[in-house]
Amino acid sequence: MNNISRSEFIKTIKLVFASTGLVAIVAPILSYLYPSPLEETPSTAVFVEKLEELPANESRTVLYGRYPAIVVNTSQGLKGYSAVCTHFACIVKWNNQINQFACPCHAGFYDPLDGHVVSGPPPRPLAPIPINIQDGKIYLGEQL
Ligand code: FES
Repeated sequence: MNNISRSEFIKTIKLVFASTGLVAIVAPILSYLYPSPLEETPSTAVFVEKLEELPANESRTVLYGRYPAIVVNTSQGLKGYSAVCTHFACIVKWNNQINQFACPCHAGFYDPLDGHVVSGPPPRPLAPIPINIQDGKIYLGEQL
């Protein structure tokens, strides 16, 4: 069995704490200098689904940059929004029983036609994202 002296043990503990502190300082600097490849808003449109595969009153959720976005096929056409709730950033889901986006965290509800808050605590509407259709495919975002 390997015995270590009290001073060696304290030295080891100090080294562990110093290493942890160094990582805590260096990691944010590195993440600032070398950001994640996921953009806030993608520079090109994001493929969602083939048009024929999104039936009326159904939705698809896709990753749009860093955050999820949701597309729903409403009675007035396709609508796209950020799926991030404007209250505390939970991810909203489409509820086709009540035809609204529902936030599972604090019962916030949004209208699918313009994203406005129907009820609950969210302070702002869902952020709209433009939809493009090309060659029978649905895309989120301006640039194809
Ligand atoms: S986070 Fe959506 S209602 Fe609170």
